[in-house]
Amino acid sequence: MNPSPDLIDLSFELAASRCADLTPLVYQRLFTTHPETQAMFRSQGSELVKGSMLALTIEAILDFAGERRGPFRLIACEVVSHDGYGTPRELFITFFAVIRDTLRELLGDEWSPAIAQAWDALLAEIDAFAAIAA
Ligand code: HEM
Repeated sequence: MNPSPDLIDLSFELAASRCADLTPLVYQRLFTTHPETQAMFRSQGSELVKGSMLALTIEAILDFAGERRGPFRLIACEVVSHDGYGTPRELFITFFAVIRDTLRELLGDEWSPAIAQAWDALLAEIDAFAAIAA
């Protein structure tokens, strides 16, 4: 289990106090850093899918970092279904780093070394977890 669930929670809380909806920022960053992903989303109704994908991913991250009661299982499940959408595992897991980078930019000075370390540990654990599922 991640040793610092509170720091992961805190990073989302601080971001929420600065920005009501992370969705546009996260997808802007995803499409800038990985332009090939833009065409993967359907042309109609993709706003709902993107919002839902992000909300479910954040729920899974918080559960994975914390008590692992259930929602974290989405990560293993989606790594397999995304393979079917043409999203290889290496690309799939970059979404977590894109979320981290979005929070880091939003938090500015409040992105502490402790928060950075908690995220590094979390991303390494998610990587290992997704590798087992793939
Ligand atoms: C860069 C990485 C990723 C790409 C390019 C990607 C791409 C996509 C695409 C194209 C869809 C829509 C499929 C459709 O139109 O039916 C989708 C849906 C979804 N994705 Fe991702 N995905 C990524 C990462 C993730 C991650 C890390 C998770 C969660 C662990 C996730 C969870 C979901 C879920 C739950 C849906 C269904 C949303 C809904 O309709 O309710 N995705 N993804």
